[in-house]
Amino acid sequence: MNNKSTNVVWHQATISRDKREQLNGHKSVILWFTGLSGAGKSTVAHAVEDRLYNMGCRTFVLDGDNVRHGLCSDLGFSERDRKENIRRIGEAAKLFLEAGVITLTAFISPFRQDREIVRNLVPHGEFLEIYCDTALEVCESRDVKGLYKRARAGEIANFTGISSPYEAPVDPELCLETGKDNIEQCVEQVIAMLRSRALIK
Ligand code: ADX
Repeated sequence: MNNKSTNVVWHQATISRDKREQLNGHKSVILWFTGLSGAGKSTVAHAVEDRLYNMGCRTFVLDGDNVRHGLCSDLGFSERDRKENIRRIGEAAKLFLEAGVITLTAFISPFRQDREIVRNLVPHGEFLEIYCDTALEVCESRDVKGLYKRARAGEIANFTGISSPYEAPVDPELCLETGKDNIEQCVEQVIAMLRSRALIK
């Protein structure tokens, strides 16, 4: 996207991210859930948020289906629109990071390059990619929203996994077998990762 914001000077906040983190008693980080529709991204992200909330952490979930009702309601599912979708979410997540919040995003984000762009927006180690690895057949058999059936019938164009590609992460910080492990087991793995990186106590 062309930057049309010229003659704009960055204002340095007096309340820094560091101060916010001290107040919160934990670090902020982006937990970027990626995977096919129906792989459990939102379910696990919200379950992790629930656990963190009960531990007294500041959190927020940015969820594809919700964000596409507002911030990204002008975008569809072409490659170009998905790229812009992920760019906006990346920038929004970066703001939450500055706000000292543990930010969980649940978007298919099918393209490796788009996820890498977001990774490179923030300092090293603050974008943690969590791959919800569930086979297409499993997602399709669950078909919670009935979208796979409609995509197979040719009623939805560019449907990820059917008529549009999904590029799995090569080296994600965490891989969840959301087709095998239950939600609680997945939550445990995310919490363990946050603890091992000293992001939470
Ligand atoms: S992304 O590819 O740009 O990251 P995003 O996560 O925001 O996608 O939105 C995915 C959600 O939109 C799916 O969970 C599904 O409910 C709905 N959806 C509607 N059309 C499509 C499509 N063509 N491909 C994938 N998901 C779609």
